[in-house]
Amino acid sequence: MEAMDLVRSFFIVAHFVGLAAIVGPFLMQLRWKGQYAFPVVFGGAITQLVTGLVLVGLAEMRDVDIDYAKITVKLVIAIIIFVAALLGYLKQRKTEGGGGRELLPFFHAAGGLALVNMALAVFW
Ligand code: HEM
Repeated sequence: MEAMDLVRSFFIVAHFVGLAAIVGPFLMQLRWKGQYAFPVVFGGAITQLVTGLVLVGLAEMRDVDIDYAKITVKLVIAIIIFVAALLGYLKQRKTEGGGGRELLPFFHAAGGLALVNMALAVFW
């Protein structure tokens, strides 16, 4: 395996870990009334932006054709996920006891849109 392939594989694994960090807590806490794992989800959102952009750079370096329409849509969705996770994370830090139902929209937006991005990555 060439060094470049190894680096790409590393970032794809990291891309999947970031995905899991958003979707995992979402599925596990889908029906919880509070105490959502925003620090994990927020970490996942950052990971997806960073690893996604690195993967685009690596594809360019390998002269692989990139579908920029698809990448742009995924990037916009990932930014919305990032903002939802950041807002939830910041609001949670201001609340005693991990916050309650008022944080649910942020949590569901981040998790639901991660599922959308996953489907886009595979079907488009
Ligand atoms: C929550 C956000 C995201 C999720 C859930 C997600 C999910 C995925 C999945 C499941 C794959 C594997 C698809 C396959 O190999 O068939 C993938 C690949 C990829 N993603 Fe994402 N992604 C996200 C964000 C991003 C962002 C923001 C970018 C870039 C701006 C990006 C760029 C890429 C690229 C370039 C690949 C292909 C890597 C390669 O095969 O070399 N992703 N993504």
